[in-house]
Amino acid sequence: MSNETNRRDFLGYTFAAVAAVGGASALVGMKQAWDPLPSVLAGGFTTVELSGIKAGEPIVVTWRGKPIFILKKTEDMEDNKRDLVVGNDRFTVAIGLCTHLGCIPAWKKTKWKCACHGGEFNPSAENIFGPPPRPLDLPPFSIKGTQIVLGEEGPEYKKIATAMMA
Ligand code: FES
Repeated sequence: MSNETNRRDFLGYTFAAVAAVGGASALVGMKQAWDPLPSVLAGGFTTVELSGIKAGEPIVVTWRGKPIFILKKTEDMEDNKRDLVVGNDRFTVAIGLCTHLGCIPAWKKTKWKCACHGGEFNPSAENIFGPPPRPLDLPPFSIKGTQIVLGEEGPEYKKIATAMMA
């Protein structure tokens, strides 16, 4: 074997090695760019303790930048197919964006009222007056003990979502 051939082989192997390392680095870089940031992953879920919520006084939490209404129903509020039952309590869980044009309705003693065009929603989040074409939307959630985890589709969510479609 001549020196020339050895040198050519050496250069070929070196080039191949550099290209392989470069390619692997590029793949690692691309994977890091595609994977969601840890803060984004954590931001996908919002956990709320339900036991401290007072009946008739809905709370508003934020999930993925949206307001979420959680109302613990009082005894005299009617049962509804979208009631979330946790222990002995019934809750209404809804995305707090008016289904007309997306304003945030405000709770007024017994119902949510939308200031934009006068739409109203009852304690079960059903549209009862004005231009909203449908009830407030249901966010995906799961139940863990007395906590609700927004962002996960648990069996309770699936049951209510199915009932709402019927
Ligand atoms: S946006 Fe709520 S009634 Fe129009």
